Amino acid sequence: MHVVHLSVECFPLAKVGGLADVVGALPRYQRKLGVDAWVVCPFYDKPFTRDHNFSSIAKGSFFQGSEELHYEVLKETSDSLGFPLYLIHIPSKLDRQEIYCYPDEAEQWIAFQHAFLHWLKNSQIKPDVINCHDHHVGLIPFLTKHASDFKEFENVKTVFTVHNGQYQGWMNWSKGILLPAFDTWKWGLLDWDGLINPLAVAIKCCDAFTTVSEGYLQELYRQANGLEDLFFSEAAKGYGIVNGIDDAYWNPGEDKLIPVNYDVESSKKGKAKNKKVFCEKYGLDETLPLLTYIGRFATEKGADLLSEIVVNVFSNNENKISIFILGSGDTQIQTNLEKLLTEYPGRLAAFFGYNETLAHEVYAAADMILMPSRVEPCGLNQLYAMKYGTIPIVRRIGGLKDTVRDVSEKKGYGFVFPEATPEDAASAIERALDYIGQRGKMQTIRRKEMELDFSWDKSAQQYIDLYNRL
Ligand code: GLC
Repeated sequence: MHVVHLSVECFPLAKVGGLADVVGALPRYQRKLGVDAWVVCPFYDKPFTRDHNFSSIAKGSFFQGSEELHYEVLKETSDSLGFPLYLIHIPSKLDRQEIYCYPDEAEQWIAFQHAFLHWLKNSQIKPDVINCHDHHVGLIPFLTKHASDFKEFENVKTVFTVHNGQYQGWMNWSKGILLPAFDTWKWGLLDWDGLINPLAVAIKCCDAFTTVSEGYLQELYRQANGLEDLFFSEAAKGYGIVNGIDDAYWNPGEDKLIPVNYDVESSKKGKAKNKKVFCEKYGLDETLPLLTYIGRFATEKGADLLSEIVVNVFSNNENKISIFILGSGDTQIQTNLEKLLTEYPGRLAAFFGYNETLAHEVYAAADMILMPSRVEPCGLNQLYAMKYGTIPIVRRIGGLKDTVRDVSEKKGYGFVFPEATPEDAASAIERALDYIGQRGKMQTIRRKEMELDFSWDKSAQQYIDLYNRL
């Protein structure tokens, strides 16, 4: 079976969030299970493209409105990611340093999708399944069925994976003329509330859609940024498949990015050594429990609550905890945290930015991780944390709810709180502090979570079962 994953992020080529981690790992695990899985992404002017060799395998051109676009398809020659990676280069559109936030984003992603189909058609490549990831490539399930130039793909199955339903890629109808020619009487499939909505298009036209956890699938029927009714009416073709983690890269036993490697048996000493190195670097007290937040500064992630949570926790637990924050995004959130850094020297530290190596160091050093998300389709950070023996303190939502079991339950290994409020988060942190303060508890819980299996093997198979059903 030949499956092509289409996405605008793929680790380590281009990453903003978990989408990249999934697309950079899932295809490799699918290949292990005998599926010929490829990844196709836009070309970016980034370290990865500068440091790797590519060969040109196809060229072509098409009109986007009145503009003629020329594309080149580049294949990474050594398959260093463990799967064939193809990049579509279009001068002035798909050749940028960043992934998002350009004013002509709609033009970029339309060009990407058009070039992809144009290349497949001219090279006579006909995958069995196209697995599209998030709204940027949400027009594909429509175009394969209703674009006049691409009718040969009518029977190619399309699976659409929702990593985040909050962003939908809305565009004004004036962009309609930029799309490849399509059966105009089908325009209603492109429309949602007077706009072209690529996420809605994908859900309407795909053969099946998946969400990155079962819990999130259920939530989308009630809360989907305006698409609740659509998700509900298409529920028959919806599946929840929880993400896995790439244990070749996220493994404290072999991780080259952390100072000291450790496994379950050596976790007590191993984590203590990593913590010592880390605390010295950031001026924190290594004898106190270390709590961390790692992630984008977005309200979706509850990052706007962090300042209040920090104040709340410190005011009730003086000298009982240190906190380290790693992230970037909303500048107001960062400014608020910066003010707190001066108020709590030696107890609160932070790094503002995206830093993959530092993330590994933090997972290895920290005792607890906080995720106060308002929306969390899966959440990978809690999975990475548990693999590194770091206790998750998470809001009961989406994939967090599915993957973290509270210590109050049988076989529990984490702390779950009901609402995304500073009070609920702070009281869960206090509950965790009390718990790990009891003799032997910390190591028991650490052992339990490090032994959980969140590898991709099972989930990769679930995707394949779905492709087979289609
Ligand atoms: C998005 C979601 C996150 C999920 C990731 C990968 O970033 O917000 O919850 O884990 O996609 O699917």
